[in-house]
Parts: sequence; C-alpha cells; structure tokens
Amino acid sequence: MSPRAPLVWPTQALSEALTAVWPAAQVEVVQSVTSTNTVLMNWARAAGPEGVPRLLVAEAQTAGRGRLGRTWLAQPGASLTFSLALPLAPTDWSGLSLAVGVALAEALDPCATPLSAQTPVARIGLKWPNDLWLLDPQAPGRKLGGILVETVVVGTLRWMVLGVGLNVHPQEGAAPAGVRPACLAEWLPDITVPAALTCVLLPLAQALKQFESAGFAPFVPRYAARDLLHGRMLTLSHHPELTHGLAEGITHEGALRVRSAQGISLIHSGEVSVRPCEPEFVPIAPLEDAA
Ligand code: BTN
Repeated sequence: MSPRAPLVWPTQALSEALTAVWPAAQVEVVQSVTSTNTVLMNWARAAGPEGVPRLLVAEAQTAGRGRLGRTWLAQPGASLTFSLALPLAPTDWSGLSLAVGVALAEALDPCATPLSAQTPVARIGLKWPNDLWLLDPQAPGRKLGGILVETVVVGTLRWMVLGVGLNVHPQEGAAPAGVRPACLAEWLPDITVPAALTCVLLPLAQALKQFESAGFAPFVPRYAARDLLHGRMLTLSHHPELTHGLAEGITHEGALRVRSAQGISLIHSGEVSVRPCEPEFVPIAPLEDAA
C-alpha cells in the first residue's frame, strides 16, 4: 500500500466558514476517533445550554457507522469523514438529510443546478434517502458518499449530529467491480480531502440555516434535478408490504413516491432500503425533465 502524503487542513478557513453562520462554532481536526458521530452524540448529550456548534473532522475512524446499523469503512486519508453537531429548531424535520445531500452535491458539482444552463447533466446524483453517487454517461453510477443524521434532545434543545463520509481517493486493494465505491478523484483528479471539506462546509452550513427557517420546500426542485431513482424500477428491503415499484420522485416532505400494483405508496422511513433494479444503467436526466 503506498503511503499517502500527510493531510494539511486549512483550519482557519474552515473556522471562518463555520463562524460566518454560527459565530461561536468550533472546529477540531483529529487523526483518529472511533466515529465522529458517536463522539459528537456523546458530547451533545453532555452539552449544557451554553454548548456551541462543533465540527469534528477525523482522518480515520476505527468504528465508523453508516445507516441501518451498517459499518462505514474508509481507509485513513482516502475519505473525508466529519460530523457537525448543533442545536437546530426547524418547524418540521422532514427532508433534513435530503437537503444535506442537495447542499453537498451542489457544492461539489455546481454546474448542474436548476438555475444553470451551462452543464445540464449532473455528475453527482442523489439516491434516496442519503446517498451521493458519482454518475457517468458511459457507465453505471456508483456510491460516492453517505450521510448519517442523528438527533438527541438535551434540555429544551434538540441537537442534530450530521455525519458525512465522502470517498475522495480510491480505496487500496482489490474489490469486485460491482461493489467498488466511486471516489471524487475519478472525476476531479486534483481534489484533496481537505479541499473537499473546504468546498462543502460553507454551503452546507448555509443550507442548514435555510432548512431551519424554511424547511425542505426550497430543496425540492434541487433534489429532483439530481434524483437518480426517478423513473426507475426499485427493489425495496425491510418494507412490510412492498418489494418492487417504480420511483416517481419525492414529496415536499422528502418521502419517496413509489408506484406499484397497490397504487402510490409514500416511503417515509429511513429504515427502508431501496435500490434500482437495473444496476447496469443509471439515467442522467436533462434538468428540464427532472425539475
Ligand atoms: C451511509 O451511507 O450509510 C452513511 C455513512 C455516514 C458515514 C459518516 S463518516 C463520518 C460520520 N461518522 C460516522 O461514524 N458516520 C458518519
């Protein structure tokens, strides 16, 4: 395995991005933790009313966690792994993790927003509910990253701990082609792990502020522009009644709309796992079709 160069973190710039939105916010970069989400969930539980928003970035995790109790594996230095803890008070929490996906995708791939006519094809797509995928017109899309949102009530506040794992460089070692995750460097060869964080942090913070004041509504068309499940047949796991159906976009609450013989079902639960039936083809919709 070739050793990677030490990572250089622009902590001043990261701090400025965060304090532009939350003036008291703190930034910490560590070499290794169990899981940035676990550490910040424990920290939030112990935080009093004076607790401030906190970003924890780790170059490596020994017990990284994904959705549905899965393990999140990333080789040290190959992935961006961070969590952000803050008290949040939206009137409706529905769609939070989808809004985060929109913010990350737009920050990394700004040309493919509904407002841009320059590049009407997204390279980063969103797979409901929490995945970022790297899309390619010539090949199947593959998972690029994931989002894990957890919350805890502390006194009168609800703290959110938002964890992001984003593959930046290839993982060393062979993996079967079908399961090899994508990485940003396939598309942006000069990207570094710290640069990826610098790119997403301010837009992410601004999106969380927007979500807190306006909910998911402003993100709905932006999600639709990158919704890689739209129009595809799905296989569903862990759903009590549905095993297959056609994805017909998302609702204003962030639920997945699925058409089947039973009619239209709305899938709200993040406990349900969905995957496209034809992994060999991920459509890349022109924005005018998707919006
Ligand atoms: C998923 O796709 O299942 C979500 C993956 C989330 C992984 C990130 S890495 C940083 C943060 N700490 C964790 O333990 N998990 C999240």
